[in-house]
Amino acid sequence: MSYQNLLVMREDPVAIVQLNRPKVLNALNLALMQELVDALQHLDQDEKIRCLILTGDEKAFAAGADIREMADAGPIEMLQRNTIPLWDRVQAVSKPTIAAVSGYALGGGCELALLCDIIVASETARFAQPEINIGVIPGAGGTQRLARTLGKHKAMEFILTGRTMLAQEALDAGLACRVVPPEACLDEARKLAVEICQRSPLAVKLAKEAILKAFEGSLREGLDFERKCFYLMFGSEDQKEGMRAFLEKRQAEFKGR
Ligand code: CAA
Repeated sequence: MSYQNLLVMREDPVAIVQLNRPKVLNALNLALMQELVDALQHLDQDEKIRCLILTGDEKAFAAGADIREMADAGPIEMLQRNTIPLWDRVQAVSKPTIAAVSGYALGGGCELALLCDIIVASETARFAQPEINIGVIPGAGGTQRLARTLGKHKAMEFILTGRTMLAQEALDAGLACRVVPPEACLDEARKLAVEICQRSPLAVKLAKEAILKAFEGSLREGLDFERKCFYLMFGSEDQKEGMRAFLEKRQAEFKGR
């Protein structure tokens, strides 16, 4: 399996998928997301693979959706691009997925880690939903999944300020299951994957399905609602200003329209 924006390493029965756009801190553009879904689907169908690890590099798991790709888009264009539904297809993987997170896991990057079943964080991991700083809101499940993981009040504070959560706080908040030194992060994920691979594949599959059921129901409505709000923001001056300001490396001036 060879891709432009990913590296796929097989260590049967474990497969490691590494996001590989280091120059832009693994920003998640459409091409990367399409490749990611393709790789995950192939590995999900591969009988020799029982557990998947998703990782980035030392500096970034992923610094979010690609702002350059979105900055000038309007709401209808965002809707028609159909990028965000690709995140749902990550969730649809039936085998256990472990995110090994070092460095930045921001915006869509944080949401991608949240979509994985387990998060192993390195001491350098920095989680945030900074969309609020660029005039939008999380659009790939952050409002819904963080409300469930952190609880309403903590999720409000986290998303409304866009602040960073360090690894230890992520562990205490139940986001990460363990924190390890950066050089041990992938190995720790590997160990966990191997341990899961020693269990009954059918029981693992059904346990995963059952746990995910706990998040369903109104989650679908929540995600649809969030997505519409996210697209709507692309009709605002604040989104244009926020994303332009980021690309021009200056402070944004929001007008609330
Ligand atoms: N999209 C596109 N490019 C990005 C990016 C992103 N999300 N994040 C970083 N980059 C690019 C930068 O533009 C820069 O490229 P150039 O060298 O061509 O200028 C390169 O990656 C390195 O980034 P910085 O120079 O900014 O590195 P830094 O160490 O000074 O700062 C950072 C690192 C704090 C992570 C900063 O890059 C940053 O704030 N990134 C944006 C984070 C963000 O807002 N993410 C949310 C995106 S919206 C989203 O994800 C919506 C959703 O819910 C789906």
